[in-house]
Parts: sequence; C-alpha cells; structure tokens
Amino acid sequence: MLDVVVLVSGGGTNLQALIDAVESGAVANTKLAGVISNNRNAYALQRAEDNGIPGICISPKEFASREEFNERFLDAVDTLQPDLIVLAGFLVVIPPAMIEKYRNRIINIHPSLIPSFCGTGYYGLKVHEAALKRGVKVAGATVHFVDEGTDTGPIILQKAVEVVQGDTPEVLQRRVMEQAEWKILPQAVGLIAAGRVKVEDGRVFIRE
Ligand code: GAR
Repeated sequence: MLDVVVLVSGGGTNLQALIDAVESGAVANTKLAGVISNNRNAYALQRAEDNGIPGICISPKEFASREEFNERFLDAVDTLQPDLIVLAGFLVVIPPAMIEKYRNRIINIHPSLIPSFCGTGYYGLKVHEAALKRGVKVAGATVHFVDEGTDTGPIILQKAVEVVQGDTPEVLQRRVMEQAEWKILPQAVGLIAAGRVKVEDGRVFIRE
C-alpha cells in the first residue's frame, strides 16, 4: 500500500481528483494518509475533512524564521510516514532537507508542458496568462518529480490540451485541469503505486 501525503494551498481540485480515483479503484494500492496546507482557509482542507483524511495547516507566517518553519514542516510530513508526497497546487518552496530525504518520492503537478511556462513566477493563472500572451496553440500539464530546481525534476507524464481562440486565462485553466491535470495526476500516482516508475539519469522510464 502506497501511503500518500498531499500538500495543498488552494481549492484542491487536484486533491479531489485523487480522492475520487482512489475511491473508485481507478488508482489501486493507494491510501491518502494526510493533507497539509499552508493556508488555513484552503478549500482543500474541507475536502480532506469531508473524506475523512487527516488535514493540518502549517504556515511560514506562524514562525519567526524560514529555517524554523522548514524544520517543523519536515517534522509534520515525517509524522505521517509517507511513501509519496504529492504537491497539488502547493505554493510554498519545498525545504532542501525534504527534497534530499524524499528524493524521487515527491511529485508535482504543473499546468503547462514543461519546459514551457515553468520556473520561478509561473504558477496558477499566471501560467495561462503567459501562454495566451505568447499565442501558443497547445497548452497542457506535466507531472514531474521534485528536485532542487523549480519545475526541473524528471518528467513522469504530460498531456497536451488545445488552446481555443478567444480563451481567457480562466477558461484555459479550467480546460487544462479537466482534460489534463485531473487525469495525469491520479494516473502518475497509480503508476508509482504499481511500482512501474523508475528514474535513471534524470529521466523517467515507465514499465509496461
Ligand atoms: C493547479 O492548476 C496546479 O497545476 C497549479 O495550481 C493549481 C491548483 O489548483 N500548480 C502550480 O501552478 C504549481 N506551479 P487546485 O488547488 O484546484 O488543485
């Protein structure tokens, strides 16, 4: 059984996709062991509560220094003993010690086809604003392992989504979520739970 801890900051629609996939059996051999939010008002915490998943809030704002937050944050994650940590719209920088300790056991969903529209400053709606500004005709989402860089880790799955003339950032964001994020995030967790994902030389290989 793969014990998964999900880190969230906002609405939690990707968390919901995971909850639904585990409940329906589409993702097997997986237990959602906890949800951690940096934002007390995140609707994602409500989703956790509604589904009987332990939820906690820990915010950098509650600590005198980032070092102190990082230590307590790592403690909170460790306590849940996860096999996999999923960043599902989590907007806090992951402490280096956590990346080191959970190497190739932290995954992130990003709302673009990496290496486009990723890195520092590209998150949430900003990604879609930038994509529309550049005039790309294809958008999409990426699930990747988290390393020390921002959106630089090994890519697990990607899915392309059409950009439609007249799209607003909100409309494009919703289409990318529906057609890509809510599919490839649960799919990636399922593949990891099935032991089919291997990282070699910074690249991911998926066993048939
Ligand atoms: C999602 O679109 C996710 O890809 C994005 O934030 C949104 C969270 O929505 N993440 C990033 O931009 C990370 N760089 P949700 O709370 O409804 O899942």
